[in-house]
Amino acid sequence: MCSRKSPIGFFDSGYGGLTVLSDVRKMLPEYDYVYLGDNARAPYGTRSFEVVYEYTWECIKELFHRGCDLVIVACNTSSAKALRTIQQVNLIEYPGKRVLGVIRPSAEVIGNYSKTNHVGILATEGTVRSNSYLLEIEKFFPELYVYQHACPLWVPLIENNEYDSKEGRGFIKKDVLKLLEISPSIDTIVLGCTHYPLIQDYIESILPKNITILSQGPIVAASLKSYLLRHTWLVKKLSTQQNMHFLTTESSQVFDANVKRLLGIEIQSEHIKINTI
Ligand code: DGL
Repeated sequence: MCSRKSPIGFFDSGYGGLTVLSDVRKMLPEYDYVYLGDNARAPYGTRSFEVVYEYTWECIKELFHRGCDLVIVACNTSSAKALRTIQQVNLIEYPGKRVLGVIRPSAEVIGNYSKTNHVGILATEGTVRSNSYLLEIEKFFPELYVYQHACPLWVPLIENNEYDSKEGRGFIKKDVLKLLEISPSIDTIVLGCTHYPLIQDYIESILPKNITILSQGPIVAASLKSYLLRHTWLVKKLSTQQNMHFLTTESSQVFDANVKRLLGIEIQSEHIKINTI
């Protein structure tokens, strides 16, 4: 008899983590997944370290409460500002649970794509300020020159469906070109915010064709697959009915409509309240 009831949890401040979940599901279709978007409190990118940590830990505890033994923090801002404390301090009280982020898997592979050794990171203000990409990439590819540019308007533009307007496109283009101005030798750019693949076509249309754009979905999917191969005790706890469940702190109607608009999929999410919301 199979008594396992542990979906893999995915968390993001909003819709961005769905881009990662989508690629993970393609690579690991057998598992159950539960997605939590904290849309009511997005964006996280301009919030303080303490607040991002508090919100992130609340959402992870919610996913633990719903049976998840493994949670993927599919948010760079949370991975940058909260993950280390959660892994090193909070998880001591949850010995059978694991929480993984999205920055390290990206840092582990970025050097494989660059010929010039000049790479760029586009991310939220919080991720850029944390210097997490610089610190992580240094561990794996010390020869790389890493240039970062913060795009504080992009997540609000995407969450509020304003990215496709003339003004929205203008802001996005300005940020992309600013990164290239810092170093014209950049040949590889990481979309260091999981929302950004949602506007990847437009970003690509601005960039010279010789620049490789890395979005994190396929990278995190490959890294998770390898992690599970090395952690069979955890795999034994994961449920495999191919179920999906979506949770949002915003209105579920708004969430469902935006998921359809952004990803072209029909879902029925559940509205939840987290603590003070
Ligand atoms: N998707 C989140 C990230 O990867 C966006 C954070 C925000 O809400 O600003 O950083």
